[in-house]
Amino acid sequence: MKWIKRIALGLVAVIVLLVAVVFGVSESRMRRTYDVATVSPLNVTKDPAQIARGEHLATAVAKCTDCHTADLGGKVFIEPGPMGTVSASNLTAGKGGILARYTDAQLETAIRHGVRTDGRGLVIMPSDEYQYLGDADVAAIIAYLRTIPPVDRELPKTKLGPIGRGLVTFGAPLIPAARIDHGKPPASRASVPPVGPTREYGEYLVSVGGCRGCHGPDLAGAPGHAPGEPASANITPAGPMGRWSEADFTRVLRTGTRPDGSKLLDFMPWRSMARHTDDELHAIWLYLKTVPPVQSAARS
Ligand code: HEC
Ligand code: HEC
Repeated sequence: MKWIKRIALGLVAVIVLLVAVVFGVSESRMRRTYDVATVSPLNVTKDPAQIARGEHLATAVAKCTDCHTADLGGKVFIEPGPMGTVSASNLTAGKGGILARYTDAQLETAIRHGVRTDGRGLVIMPSDEYQYLGDADVAAIIAYLRTIPPVDRELPKTKLGPIGRGLVTFGAPLIPAARIDHGKPPASRASVPPVGPTREYGEYLVSVGGCRGCHGPDLAGAPGHAPGEPASANITPAGPMGRWSEADFTRVLRTGTRPDGSKLLDFMPWRSMARHTDDELHAIWLYLKTVPPVQSAARS
């Protein structure tokens, strides 16, 4: 009986130690603050063309509305539980919203750096993709945000629970700010291609559209980010898409139905992507045709 007791005590000690490590490491990662190099002032105007561009980016390309909801009043993104609580903030000037308090520079810092006004990293907000947004595009998004009707919606504060903390401790990419170089903008930002049905503009749409966040850095498919999330698909020419015509591809993104008649899961944000213009879908197609083909087990 004595040794059973000893093993049990040892086990308890190991668990206590593990909990302490997870708490300590995750606490320091969550408390970490980031210094963001100031950018030259963005040209945010009331020009209807700029606002329309911002609306298109927010609803179709960068898909802010997928997480912050169609009225941008935000929602509880992860319901309170062992993972914690994550709210996609209310981006309007209504009650519980951030818009009235944030300057344009603070909005830019949240969007392209994933950093909150107190310097800490935002959870899940995909700034590791939005860091590639050009100055004109981030200004357009801000110009659009300034026009949206206020929504009164108070949301619970984001707070990670034991599982969320465990994930942060063991390196899950829950805090995008940790992976961004805040001192130096990505080189590609200096040469954002003009809007048009070109491969180059397609590459830009794929990088700011978050495709890599789900389909993996090489676009060859990746497992879900968290338990219960579906695996994505291989969208390089070596995956099923390699056998599709451009008309098939356009139909998949406009209707959510594959050439074989099967339906895409709603987790793939095809409903927002369906709002891309024909030129944009053509640009994305041109780009995806030229990425290196990568064989992978995911759906191919
Ligand atoms: C994958 C989901 C997702 C998408 C897409 C997304 N966000 Fe967020 N965003 C979040 C979450 C979650 C938070 C809150 C994180 C936190 O509280 O730590 C957030 C926070 C923010 C904040 C900071 C608000 C605050 O409370 O300080 C701003 C500003 C913001 N998002 C703007 C945008 C804009 C603009 C877009 C589109 C270009 C966008 N977001 C797209 C999930 C998302
Ligand atoms: C939030 C995660 C997410 C994002 C962002 C995302 N995808 Fe997907 N995508 C998925 C998942 C998951 C599937 C698999 C859906 C299924 O199994 O029904 C998928 C499937 C697809 C398919 C169908 C492939 C096939 O073989 O059936 C295409 C095409 C596609 N995505 C293109 C894109 C492009 C282009 C982008 C960026 C503009 C993008 N996706 C962004 C998650 C995502």
